[in-house]
Amino acid sequence: MDKEQMREKLKGSLKHKRYEHSLGVCAESVRMAELFGADTEKAYIAGLLHDCAKCLSHDEETELCEKYPDIADQMTMLCHPVLHAPLGAVVARDEYGVTDPDILSAIRHHTTACADMKLLDKIIYVADMTESHRDFDGVDKLRRLAHDDLEDAYKEAVRQTLLHNIKKDSLIHPDTLDAWNSIIINNKDIKLNKGDSLL
Ligand SMILES: [Fe+2]
Ligand SMILES: [Fe+2]
Repeated sequence: MDKEQMREKLKGSLKHKRYEHSLGVCAESVRMAELFGADTEKAYIAGLLHDCAKCLSHDEETELCEKYPDIADQMTMLCHPVLHAPLGAVVARDEYGVTDPDILSAIRHHTTACADMKLLDKIIYVADMTESHRDFDGVDKLRRLAHDDLEDAYKEAVRQTLLHNIKKDSLIHPDTLDAWNSIIINNKDIKLNKGDSLL
């Protein structure tokens, strides 16, 4: 399937606002890929398709989770808003013919992030929050960083996500906590020995 066919299929499956958001993430991902040295073709497809599972009904979600039990652990099921990301990687593969592991990884991790985020993972994660339709407290700061330094933008995006969930008394997915701890460990150059605890 070429990019135009992907766009048409996506347009037919998502609500108008979600489709416009997907085009926004696509454009922002390509811009960041050019700036930060990532593959722009992969950024285009990952940005375009990152929310491709947002159209699934509850029954369709359940069916996919039963078909592929490794998609979602118990915490992912409990943090339901994040579920469309791992499901999205399956839909992108099975319905859009995407086989590239970098693209599938970026779609999979676009809601929670994880400890070991690659370049494209970080770009899609940040672009999902900075695309032009987004409007929330803190987005201006994120957009400034996303024009300057990917690591700073990514750290700020994870920080804002954590604070947002805490303010709402929401669950925080363990992968997001792992992402934050990984950022801090790398920034402070902390060396952990086997058996050491961070606390
Ligand atoms: Fe999403
Ligand atoms: Fe999104």
